Amino acid sequence: MRKVLVTGGCGFIGSNFIRLLHSEEADVEIINLDMLTYAGNPKNLADLEDSSRYKLVRGDIRDTNVVESLVGDVDWVVNFAAETHVDRSTSEKAGEFIETNVYGTYVLLDSLRRASPKARFLQVGTDEVYGDVPYPEFPDETARLEPSSPYSASKAGGDMQALAFQRTADMDVMVSRCTNNYGPYQYPEKLLPLFITNAFDDEPLPLYDGGTQIRDWLFVDDHCSALLLILREGKSGEIYNVGANQDPEVPNGELTQMILRATGKPASLIRPVEGLRPGHDQRYAVSTEKIRALGWSPSVDLEEGVEKTVAWYRDRRDWWEAIKSGAYREYYQKHYGKL
Ligand code: DAU
Repeated sequence: MRKVLVTGGCGFIGSNFIRLLHSEEADVEIINLDMLTYAGNPKNLADLEDSSRYKLVRGDIRDTNVVESLVGDVDWVVNFAAETHVDRSTSEKAGEFIETNVYGTYVLLDSLRRASPKARFLQVGTDEVYGDVPYPEFPDETARLEPSSPYSASKAGGDMQALAFQRTADMDVMVSRCTNNYGPYQYPEKLLPLFITNAFDDEPLPLYDGGTQIRDWLFVDDHCSALLLILREGKSGEIYNVGANQDPEVPNGELTQMILRATGKPASLIRPVEGLRPGHDQRYAVSTEKIRALGWSPSVDLEEGVEKTVAWYRDRRDWWEAIKSGAYREYYQKHYGKL
């Protein structure tokens, strides 16, 4: 039986990954270490609650005692635990981003080094570490890191910790760097779930800075299948970019129109706003040649993925209404004010 520790598995990508791992590998025992911060929701894995192969442990990756108690005989560790929202990293204290994304990654690696030095460790990273990428460049895994926000700088720090442990402790460590994800169970602070759920309620869609920015949107299941492939076939010490490589690229304004079409709502809901994201990166893009050479390619196209996502949020009002009525309101009002 393969034992896998997944951290941050109650978040958006982590929960989708655990569901995939659970269904793809019959002979796997999954421990999900999650602190259950605002974005971690055990309901994201309600369907696995009764599985004898899945266990949730509430705890912090920065807590050496908790981590040490879990890594004793693991085969794989997949680190999703992170503070992830760019707007929160610029408008609130970035300290928590650094503590979780850098120090937390260090605690995981250091505990693993002592307890299970042969285990495989995958650091789930982001394409934002390459910073604002001028068209028509597609940075590969050797490109210079130029993170723009406290968030992306902290993720770059986590990557560096992981690679340093691979070198100095000869551990089996890999890093993935993925582009923007979307799909079921995404916390409604990110562009797609925010705009979809606001559109359902006829609330304004706060489109930043003219909506000209480019992101490379990838359906979350495609990201998760890439991660599983990296765990199975990736090479220690390697970095793997993951992305959809949309062609043509899709600016935020166009994506917003897709959301409006899929929700059947009017363009009058769009509320242009300026200056809410200091240092707003214009374009993200990556070269995905290396992961494609491993045999991966995305299977969901953007228009289809947006429709699937809209259908999920339409069906799961219970899920997002519970979130939007809580502490979320406070963040929303503080960040967006009166739209
Ligand atoms: O590139 C991968 C990254 O994607 C991940 O590392 C991050 O954790 C994840 O949050 C995401 O970062 P972004 O900053 O690109 O995602 P977000 O959904 O916040 O914003 C996407 C684009 O939409 C960005 O150009 C800003 C814009 N935007 C965002 C929000 C929340 C708006 O126009 N209005 C909004 O209200």
